[in-house]
Amino acid sequence: MKIPNIFGLGLFLGFVSFTNSIDLKSDTFLVKNVIITDINSMIIQAYRMNKFHCFQTCLSDPYCFYVKYEGKKCSFFTQYAQIQLDPSSEKIIYQKNNLEPKTCLKNSSVFWSLKKNACLPCLPAFIKYSESPHYCYHSQSVERNFFQTNSYCQSKGGFIYTPKAQNERNPFKHILDKSAFVNSTVTTLGEIFKWPDGSVVTGFTNSKEPDHLFPIECCLGIINGLVFDLPCDMTRGLTICQHE
Ligand SMILES: *[C@@H]1O[C@H](CO)[C@@H](O)[C@H](O)[C@H]1NC(C)=O
Ligand SMILES: *[C@@H]1O[C@H](CO)[C@@H](O)[C@H](O)[C@H]1NC(C)=O
Repeated sequence: MKIPNIFGLGLFLGFVSFTNSIDLKSDTFLVKNVIITDINSMIIQAYRMNKFHCFQTCLSDPYCFYVKYEGKKCSFFTQYAQIQLDPSSEKIIYQKNNLEPKTCLKNSSVFWSLKKNACLPCLPAFIKYSESPHYCYHSQSVERNFFQTNSYCQSKGGFIYTPKAQNERNPFKHILDKSAFVNSTVTTLGEIFKWPDGSVVTGFTNSKEPDHLFPIECCLGIINGLVFDLPCDMTRGLTICQHE
């Protein structure tokens, strides 16, 4: 069989399994009788996009997990989208079928890579928690400020803890006597704390946080799964690094 090599074999195979069953179960996407109830999990919305292009784009975006295709409107949502079962829904929501095997989920020294769609080993000293199966984490009870945490995590091959979603906060939520820095900083007065991908940081310790004591509090710490702003040169008793 001659295979056009414009997209490479991986995408071509994805195309085959998808078109085989465009509106049914397939290897690539599952049809869901659900509605998505929160708009915050939407990554992007495109108008006048054909169905094939819509699904192909989701496949190549590691953060796209749900696709909604309605009319010619294509919307992508993250895996953290809140979904509600709705048998009467018009089957316009598709879920990426990552086919994560149980052997990967159960083994804490491997993780399911959304970027590679494969079960990969964690770096040395990192482990996977079942609550957050797409990353590996390394933690240490050592006093470090933000800059020290940053270089320490880089020396281990990872980056500072980036717990964007609730489930990514759960592995360290029970540690109540120490806090850790997370991967978000501000550089100007009144700037909103964002994650490296541009999404807004939510889940602060209380409604007064962040209190933006600029130029002092330019970093974020986390304790009990909740974040608060603090000076970057202050030390925290817990260091958490992660990697995909
Ligand atoms: C977990 O995965 C590692 C790395 O692939 C492997 O060496 C180890 O045997 C696995 N452990 C179990 C219990 O399957
Ligand atoms: C923040 O996370 C990104 C990856 O999402 C990483 O490339 C970057 O180095 C991290 N920044 C810090 C300061 O750790």
